[in-house]
Amino acid sequence: MQHTFLMVKPDGVRRQLIGNIVRRFENRGFVLVGAKMMTISREQAERHYGQHKEKPFFGELVDFITSGPVFAMIWRGDNLIEVSRIMMGKTNPLEAAPGTIRGDFATYVGENVIHGSDSPESAERELENFFSTDELLAAGVLS
Ligand code: CMP
Repeated sequence: MQHTFLMVKPDGVRRQLIGNIVRRFENRGFVLVGAKMMTISREQAERHYGQHKEKPFFGELVDFITSGPVFAMIWRGDNLIEVSRIMMGKTNPLEAAPGTIRGDFATYVGENVIHGSDSPESAERELENFFSTDELLAAGVLS
């Protein structure tokens, strides 16, 4: 059983895709155990994208993710991290298969609708960046 961090990015929120995305994960048998609509601070965004700091698109990335509210979620389920990545599709929507979230809804790598942690270690780090200790306790991530 795993927990992971999934986030509908500002483009997905603007396009009213939250319900569609939540439904896909619920249909697959995963459980939404925590969620909130929030606008990310630049500091939080820079921490979240720390590994991309040297990339030429880092500024664009931070500008975009702070450009409007995101829908931050905590999910629980078996093999969740691996399956959620398959359900999201490739990072670049041009390579994402139809039927995946990015393959169905996105066309540009900079605005690809959803973020999901890529490993249990990233999930732990990202959940702590977006949720308070109380929220993680309430979601059952911490005990
Ligand atoms: P995500 O996997 O959420 O985290 C890193 C993000 O960097 C990725 O989604 C893309 O949205 C973004 N990204 C990757 N490559 C590029 C690029 N060439 N130009 C703009 N954004 C990019």
